[in-house]
Amino acid sequence: MGSIHGPRTIQPGEYKKPAQQERGSAPLLEVEGLTKRFQGVIALKDYRLTLREGEILGVIGPNGAGKTTLINLLSGFLKPDEGSIRFRGRDLTRLAVHRIPALGIARTFQNIRLFPSLTALENVMVAMTVHHPPDLDSLLLGFGPGQRRAQRLRERAMDLLAQLGIAHLANRPAAALSYGDQRRVEIARALALEPSLLLLDEPTAGLHPEESEALVEQLRRLHQERSVAIVMVAHDMPVVMRFCPRLHVLSSGTLLAEGTPEEIRNNPLVLEAFLGRARHPGAA
Ligand SMILES: Nc1ncnc2c1ncn2[C@@H]1O[C@H](COP(=O)(O)OP(=O)(O)O)[C@@H](O)[C@H]1O
Ligand SMILES: [Mg+2]
Repeated sequence: MGSIHGPRTIQPGEYKKPAQQERGSAPLLEVEGLTKRFQGVIALKDYRLTLREGEILGVIGPNGAGKTTLINLLSGFLKPDEGSIRFRGRDLTRLAVHRIPALGIARTFQNIRLFPSLTALENVMVAMTVHHPPDLDSLLLGFGPGQRRAQRLRERAMDLLAQLGIAHLANRPAAALSYGDQRRVEIARALALEPSLLLLDEPTAGLHPEESEALVEQLRRLHQERSVAIVMVAHDMPVVMRFCPRLHVLSSGTLLAEGTPEEIRNNPLVLEAFLGRARHPGAA
């Protein structure tokens, strides 16, 4: 009371960008100083990111840039050597990997990981047991005490497959599906966790341009329908540039540039990083 408030030093963590102040909400994800080494090789160095609820970020960069390492760190599959990851204000940096999905972070893999002999539908339903302790007999076989719940989960899983355009493949074993459809099952499985953050590692890798386009269109619709933030890693520039309003560019583990697709497209550093490598066949 009555004191004069002169200028004062802003404390660490106190500064908020105007957009965040207006929204009055803490960021969904706050990453600082994230660093990971493998036998002395720096895969990711001093990476930082602030992501809001529902935001889409594209992370691009040549092969070996550290993109998968980033996804592995954010999803808890790897632990950083330095730095911190906060999700909804909670420090996840040292949290065991199996505790991450229940907090609302789901991922897909650059190398698809499905249960090959389970059907598409079963692959999605199994993922749902993260929120509900498994009762696999009733879940997969449709009998036992959890039968009604199993029926509900089955319907939800079917809905997800339908949203990805593969309801007609629900009863095929995952191993019998095309590459693109296996990717769709992986995405459906990740969404079955009802995440607030979805991490996609090269979702369009290995797909023809038209297939990539169709998959991205489905992702766009899925994003519109639910309040899920997405970090999508790719080296497929056109796809990322159309889908992601904001981009990070990684090169040799370093955050080289960030901005809108337009800004990135015209950034000389980025052109150098990509075109420099494109001269060598085999580099992506
Ligand atoms: N498990 C690992 N062991 C040793 N080195 C690794 C491992 N994972 C990644 N690396 C190295 O870290 C760097 C970044 O790899 P990665 O994150 O897979 O890049 P990207 O996904 O952008 O192609 C590369 O030099 C890669 O060889
Ligand atoms: Mg990778």
